[in-house]
Amino acid sequence: MQKEYERLRQCVEFIQKQVDFKPKAAVVLGSGLGSFAEAIDVCAVLPYCDIPGFPTSSVPGHAGRFVFGYVGSLPVVVMQGRVHYYEGYSIQDVVLPIRVMKLLGADTLLLTNAAGGLNTEYEGGNLMLITDQIASFVPSVLRGENIEELGERFPDMSEIYDRTLGNLVKECADELGIALKEGVYIQLPGPNYESPQEVKMCRLLGADAVGMSTACEAVAANHMGMKICGISCITNLACGLTDRPLSHQEVQEVSGRVTDTFQKLVRTVLERLG
Ligand code: HPA
Repeated sequence: MQKEYERLRQCVEFIQKQVDFKPKAAVVLGSGLGSFAEAIDVCAVLPYCDIPGFPTSSVPGHAGRFVFGYVGSLPVVVMQGRVHYYEGYSIQDVVLPIRVMKLLGADTLLLTNAAGGLNTEYEGGNLMLITDQIASFVPSVLRGENIEELGERFPDMSEIYDRTLGNLVKECADELGIALKEGVYIQLPGPNYESPQEVKMCRLLGADAVGMSTACEAVAANHMGMKICGISCITNLACGLTDRPLSHQEVQEVSGRVTDTFQKLVRTVLERLG
């Protein structure tokens, strides 16, 4: 068996020994959005650091544990905190949890993040449904020998974000009276925020929001045939679009402010999927 696949299998077997639970959907909670895990009917919690070989996050606001439980009747596994490429992990390490959640049984993936707005019609606190993405500024998670057990060598990427799921998110937002933007997400490696000229570049490339996660996870999930949905919390306008410098504290404050609205939306979407 290939080394990376063997590592995945070992993580999956370890988790299954600790937790008797088969999730149907997986949720990744971004910066400041971690408290959503409190809104689920929890069956089990497993810190990443307990899982041999598992990458663990060092970023404040990213707790670093799996929460298993129910949202309505839907069994979910929630990642409370993720690891990022800028922490020094290989890109394969960064997406290992996504692959593990698929192997645990999750066929649907809801990705969330905090992002900077590139579209000047956006403002801090907006939520954006991700319609497509640019992952070209980070290495491909599929580089190296293909893991045939997960997916094919040259996967199609024409609809990374599932349209039906996207429509469901829009319907739920409508019903809840939540204004939802739609746009393209671009992942840059970080950890520095962008220079004003880089922000202009991202905008020229057609992106509406910029962040340091998510797109590589979506590539891995798409490779495995998961149905993917992504929502960004626009915490700020990107550098150069305002006259203020940007800080992680501001990002956390704004995502904290939006948490309730965001939680409502995610909970409603998951309940409908159940
Ligand atoms: N840039 C990159 N990542 C981010 C930003 C930003 O402006 N805001 C929140 N995450």
